[in-house]
Amino acid sequence: MIAPASSILSIRDLVTVFETPGRRVVAVDGVSFDIGRAQMFGLVGESGCGKTATCRSILRLFSGAPARILAGSILYDGIDLAQMDEHRLSDIRGAEIGMIFQDPMTSLNPTMRIGTQIAEGLRRHRGLGRRQAHRTAIDLLGTVGVPRPATRLDDYPHQFSGGMRQRVLIAIALACRPRLLIADEPTTALDVTIQDQILKLLLRLKDEFSMSVLLVTHDLGVLDGVDNSFAELERPASGTGIFANPTNVFFISGAVVNNGTGFDGQISGELCTSGN
Ligand SMILES: Nc1ncnc2c1ncn2[C@@H]1O[C@H](COP(=O)(O)OP(=O)(O)OP(=O)(O)O)[C@@H](O)[C@H]1O
Ligand SMILES: [Mg+2]
Repeated sequence: MIAPASSILSIRDLVTVFETPGRRVVAVDGVSFDIGRAQMFGLVGESGCGKTATCRSILRLFSGAPARILAGSILYDGIDLAQMDEHRLSDIRGAEIGMIFQDPMTSLNPTMRIGTQIAEGLRRHRGLGRRQAHRTAIDLLGTVGVPRPATRLDDYPHQFSGGMRQRVLIAIALACRPRLLIADEPTTALDVTIQDQILKLLLRLKDEFSMSVLLVTHDLGVLDGVDNSFAELERPASGTGIFANPTNVFFISGAVVNNGTGFDGQISGELCTSGN
């Protein structure tokens, strides 16, 4: 299948496995979807179905796990990230494609001030000097809605609430003005009011930065909560909700089964169509 020209990311028949001696877990089995430019795209599925593994496959960020992309392609602007050498991919990570990991506490370094953690990416990927990075970090914290950003830069992660930590992670991911933001369950650990605020924030930033967003969730209610916003953004004229637009939600379903020999498990993916 050829990726549509309007897509920023086209995943085709992706298969990712975790391999340890005598054991293979098929974490992603044959997933395909396209994300449009400046589109918010929902990736939905039950726990363990491979959402995080799909996200981590895009940037090959498996944090030491014995993971491997076995088949398929991940076309980013037409270039296959699955085949890209590590060096080139490391330039894309955090610069063109930002990622918000599932667990905000383990994603932040508890021993480093928030300001330093935001400035790190600014200095590395945008080449900003110390002062400019500091000023930009303040702006970014303000953009994601952290009150009194200038004074909060010196704080450590444990001094922030869960919702504010999630905002910090979004600020870090935005620091390099990514063209695609992967947000892996960015609201799971948060209460409903804060969930709503973070989702609205992502929608606003998507517009402000003309950024595509891959939003992962196992909770359809999360998408339902921003239903109108999705519809407004994707189909301004209709206003009928994300489920009326079959191209912006992808469901993964099924269970991963492992017998140590290979693919006895089946995860199937399908594009949502109206009515399912
Ligand atoms: N480091 C690992 N080593 C071995 N298997 C793993 C590893 N990480 C994940 N898996 C397996 O891969 C499958 C997919 O896991 P993944 O974390 O992608 O699920 P998920 O859809 O993100 O679930 P959740 O909604 O709970 O976050 C699961 O069966 C899981 O047990
Ligand atoms: Mg996950």
